[in-house]
Amino acid sequence: MVANMTVEEELIPERIPQHVAIIMDGNGRWARERGLPRLAGHRAGTENLREILRACVEFGVKILTIYAFSTENWSRPEGEVKGLLQILAEVIERELEELKAEGVQLRHIGELERISPALQAKVRHAVELTRDNDRLIVNVAFNYGGRAEIVHAIKEIVRHDYAPDEIDEELVSRFLYTSEMPDPDLVVRTSGELRVSNFLIWQSAYSEYYFAPVYWPDFNRDELRKALLHYTQRDRRFGGVK
Ligand code: IPE
Ligand code: IPE
Ligand code: MG
Repeated sequence: MVANMTVEEELIPERIPQHVAIIMDGNGRWARERGLPRLAGHRAGTENLREILRACVEFGVKILTIYAFSTENWSRPEGEVKGLLQILAEVIERELEELKAEGVQLRHIGELERISPALQAKVRHAVELTRDNDRLIVNVAFNYGGRAEIVHAIKEIVRHDYAPDEIDEELVSRFLYTSEMPDPDLVVRTSGELRVSNFLIWQSAYSEYYFAPVYWPDFNRDELRKALLHYTQRDRRFGGVK
C-alpha cells in the first residue's frame, strides 16, 4: 500500500485500444522555450519513447504507430531535415538491441526511397531483426504521407490489373502501407495543435481523437494513461445507434 495514494480512475482492461497512433508534435516549441536549437527538441523527443513503449505494454496496447517525419517535413530547413535523418539513424543504433530483447516488432510505414541507402539499410535491418517479436508492434511513420499512401495504393491496384468491380474498401486497405493491420482506435496528437497533418487519413476514418496539451518531449506514461482513460470513456457508434 502506497502512503500517498492518489485517487486515480481505473483503466478497464477490456476497453483499452488495441492500436494507438501518435502524432509526436511540439519538439521545436519545447526547445525554443528553453532557448535551445530545434534539434535539441527532436533529440529530447526520442528520450521519452522508451517510457511510452513500456507503458503501452503495461496498459495492454498491442500496436503503436508513431509519426516521426511527414512527406511535408522535407520543406524544413536543410539542417533540420539532416538532423532528423541523423536522429533516426542514432535511435536505431542505440535502441535496437534492447527493443529486440523487449519483444518489440519494428515496422516502417512510408517511402524509404528518398533517404540514403545507408539509412534504408539500417531501417530494413531493424525490421528484419525484430520481425518475430509480438509483444508490441511499433510502426514508425517516416517519410509518411496519407495522400502519398493512397496514391501508392491506387498505382498498385492498377498495376495488378484489377477490374473496377473488384475494387472495394477492403482491397484498397490491403494496398496501404498498413495492410493486415487493424485501423487505429485512438489517434493522439501532442502540443495542442488540432489537425491531422496528413496522418493515416484513410485508416482513421472512425478513430477517436485525443489532443494532449503537452509538447511531445513531455508526453510520458501519465499523459498516455490520461489519453487511454479518455478513450475508454468514449462511446463509439460507427454511424449506428445504441
Ligand atoms: C514534431 O515536432 C517533430 C516533427 C515534425 C519531425 P515539430 O518539429 O513539429 O515541433 P513544433 O511543432 O515546431 O513545435
Ligand atoms: C506533423 O507535425 C508531422 C509529425 C509529427 C512528424 P508537423 O509539425 O509537421 O505538422 P504541421 O506543420 O503543424 O501541420
Ligand atoms: Mg509541429
